[in-house]
Amino acid sequence: MDKVKVGIIGTGGISHCHMGGYKAMPERVDVVAVCDIDEEKVKAYAEQYNVPRWYTDYNEMMAKEELDCVSVCTWNSAHKGATIAALRGGANVLCEKPMAMNAEEAEEMRAVAKETGKLLQIGFVRRFGRDAELISKYCADGVMGDVYYAKATYLRKDGCPGGWFGDKAYSGGGPLIDLGVHVIDLSRYLAGNPKPVSAFGVTYNHIGCNRASGSETAWDGPQQKDGYEYTVEDFASAIVRFDNGFSLNVEASFNLNIDQDRGTVELFGTKAGVDTNNCDLYTTVAGKYVKIVPDGENNFDFEAFQREVASFVNASVGNEPCRATAEDGTWLMKILDAIYESARTGKSVDIAPIKEI
Ligand SMILES: NC(=O)c1ccc[n+]([C@@H]2O[C@H](COP(=O)([O-])OP(=O)(O)OC[C@H]3O[C@@H](n4cnc5c(N)ncnc54)[C@H](O)[C@@H]3O)[C@@H](O)[C@H]2O)c1
Repeated sequence: MDKVKVGIIGTGGISHCHMGGYKAMPERVDVVAVCDIDEEKVKAYAEQYNVPRWYTDYNEMMAKEELDCVSVCTWNSAHKGATIAALRGGANVLCEKPMAMNAEEAEEMRAVAKETGKLLQIGFVRRFGRDAELISKYCADGVMGDVYYAKATYLRKDGCPGGWFGDKAYSGGGPLIDLGVHVIDLSRYLAGNPKPVSAFGVTYNHIGCNRASGSETAWDGPQQKDGYEYTVEDFASAIVRFDNGFSLNVEASFNLNIDQDRGTVELFGTKAGVDTNNCDLYTTVAGKYVKIVPDGENNFDFEAFQREVASFVNASVGNEPCRATAEDGTWLMKILDAIYESARTGKSVDIAPIKEI
C-alpha cells in the first residue's frame, strides 16, 4: 500500500508533537512538505526532520504537492484559511484546537469539509489521554451511572504565554479559548458529547500577562513583545448547560492568585465521581462512601499526541471513526462564543444548534 503523504502548516511549538506522531509510523507515513510564513524557521525545521520540501505559502504548497493529510498548527487566526486551502487541495486535515476564532469560522470550515468529502479532525488531544481512555471505560461499563455535572479547571498562577496568545487578533481570546477549550471538550466528551444549550460566564483581566515568579511553571515575563498587544482576559469562569441536563463549571487562567497550577476534570455521576487526576473513583459500597484507586499511572500523558495522530491517519483512510469531529469543534466554538458574549453582556446566552449540512 502507498504511504500516506503528509504536510504540516505552521512549524512552531505544537507542530513538533504532530511530527513526532507521524515519525512514529514510518512504515505508513511520509512527511513530504512543511510550511511556515517564517522562512528561516521552516528551512531549519525541514532540515531537522529531513523533510524534502518546504514552503512559506500554504496555497503554493497545496498547488504543488499531492498531500493525503495535513496538520494545521498555525496560530488560531490562520486555522480557517489553512484548513480550507488544505481541504480544497484534496487533503484530510487535523486542525489544532481551538478549531477557529469563533463559531462562524468553524461553520465555514465544516461546510468545506462536507463539500469536499474530506475528513476534518480537531486537535482535542485530551480525548486521547490515558485518563480519558480509562474514564470512558468507566462510563461505558455503567460505573458512573448518569453523569450530571463536571467541574473543569485549567488554572495557571503565572502562565501567560504572551506573544500572539495574548493578542486577540491572533488568538481570539485568552485562557478560555486556549486552555479552557481542552477541559470543556474533555468534559463534554466524557459525558457522551451532549449538545450545549446555554452559558453564563465572566472574564477578568486584573493581573494581565506580566507576572513572573521564577517558578518551574512560569512563563517569565514581561511577555508582551514583538509587536503583540495584550488584549485578552487573564481569567474566565462559566457554567454551561446541556440538552440532557448535564452541566459544566469551567475555570481557566493565565494568571491567578492561587497556590499552584491546577488542571483537572472532575466528573460526577449518580453512581460515582471521578477526577482525571489518576482516575480515582468515589462511590458507595455496602452503604459506605469509598475511594477506589486504580492501579498504575492513569494521568494524561504526552504519548496522547501519538495516539491522536495515529487515529487521524487511520480515520483518513477509513480504518476507524474520527474521534474529534468538525461538529465537536464547532460545538466548542459555540460554547466559547456564548461564554464571551455572556461575560460582555452580563446575561445568560442561549446556544443555537449547529447548522444542518
Ligand atoms: N493541543 C495542544 O495541547 C496544544 C498546545 C499548544 C498549542 N496548541 C495550538 O497549536 C497552535 C499553534 O500553537 P504553537 O504553540 O505551536 O504556536 P507557535 O507560535 O509556536 O507556532 C505557530 C506557527 O504558525 C506559523 N504561522 C502563522 N500563520 C501562518 C500561516 N498563514 N502559514 C503558515 N504558518 C503560519 C507561525 O509563523 C508560527 O511558526 C495554536 O492553535 C494553539 O492553540 C495546541
